Amino acid sequence: MGHPDTQLQPPASTLALDHYWMPFTPNKDFRAHPMLAVKAEGMYYWNERGDKILDASSGLFCVAAGHARPEIADAVRKQLMELDYIPPFLRGHPKAFELAGRIAKMTPGDLNSVFFTNSGSEAVDTAMKIALAYHRARGEAQRQVFISRERAYHGVGFGGVALSGLTNNRRAFGVGLAGVAHMRHTHIPQNRFQRGEGDHGAELAEDLSRLINLHGAENIAAVFIEPVAGSTGCLVPPKGYLKRVREICDANKLLLVFDEVICGIGRMGSNFAAQSFGVTPDMLTMAKALTNGVQPMGAVAASERIYRAVIDAAGPQAIEFFHGYTYSAHPVTCAAALATLDLYEKDGLFQQARALSPYFLDAVFSLQDLGIVTDIRGYASMAAFDLAPAGVPGARGHELQKRLYDSGLHLKTTGDTAILAPAYVAEKQHIDQMMELLRKVLKTA
Ligand SMILES: Cc1ncc(COP(=O)(O)O)c(C=O)c1O
Repeated sequence: MGHPDTQLQPPASTLALDHYWMPFTPNKDFRAHPMLAVKAEGMYYWNERGDKILDASSGLFCVAAGHARPEIADAVRKQLMELDYIPPFLRGHPKAFELAGRIAKMTPGDLNSVFFTNSGSEAVDTAMKIALAYHRARGEAQRQVFISRERAYHGVGFGGVALSGLTNNRRAFGVGLAGVAHMRHTHIPQNRFQRGEGDHGAELAEDLSRLINLHGAENIAAVFIEPVAGSTGCLVPPKGYLKRVREICDANKLLLVFDEVICGIGRMGSNFAAQSFGVTPDMLTMAKALTNGVQPMGAVAASERIYRAVIDAAGPQAIEFFHGYTYSAHPVTCAAALATLDLYEKDGLFQQARALSPYFLDAVFSLQDLGIVTDIRGYASMAAFDLAPAGVPGARGHELQKRLYDSGLHLKTTGDTAILAPAYVAEKQHIDQMMELLRKVLKTA
């Protein structure tokens, strides 16, 4: 069904597809089978033919308040005409400070110093540099080893790639930065089809102790963890796992960084997953839903201890941290983020998502009756299911997302795993429609 206001674009067949080198996309396949969108509103996209496509993944985990929110668009336009740009180095503008204050209020503990970036990847690399700067400021410059986990996704900067635990993201680029050790992931068969935190696997946190024994606590800067690993397919931590990781970090003076680029800003039922799981990190990265996806923005919230150590180590006129981006705290992006946070608050969207969560998880877990589905996981407003591979690993997942898009459902897949993360404005009818479309396509997969 076409959107009534859609001014249809030329059909894909007449659009030249030759010059855009697409990210994380099989470009040849896309050109043979383009999947475009020309309009979005609420829970839906529309393609160039006017077909309506339900968005089951909040775009890419970012459009949490639904598409085309006039409140955000108005704030962006107003800011563009008021103060379109000012350098973030040696200059400031009020909204950057206001936004940092808003974020500091949302974070747990004393994660009160907020550094702005333009993406999740930049937030991760920034957090790595802050960790190094912190230890150097304290006279422990030798702490340069980072610890991450298998199956982790920490973006595409060289730092994030070195932390990455996803083979394809690493293997084409050599080993990237040296000095990253990986704990095992927690995706273990004993927790198959378990909703929420797994009953098994908390002991995998002891991998951290083993790596400390191997590398020496005095050489390790920080441990990076996605509280719920998102891009790899919603790997929910086993009960007690994150608390144990925190204890081991404390005992060895390692910084704990939660990469909440997907988990943060309401996705896990609280402001941040740190609050959902009752574990406070020393730094927390965020991006995505911070601006409802309409402007690129990431951020790192660091504890007062970290901020003070780095700032106080430098002289009064000295730049304390040689790092930043031309578009850090861009005025238009800050305006978008403030309008987004206002919306979440005013419309009670985190609460709305929390209220829908049991219905959403029931629905996704009901797919267990399909033989092709080999595991399901879920927590709050994110869930994933694995498909039995057919042929080359990932081929079935890739085919699935194509067929779903053609059938009216946009869904993120990684390999043979499908990940659902509906916007917080989703209602039961949208979940029902997601399941109906999924069942229809999965039955013929
Ligand atoms: C945990 C995590 N970290 C970092 C990133 C990278 O964010 P971006 O794509 O904005 O660079 C992502 C993206 O999905 C992510 O999930």
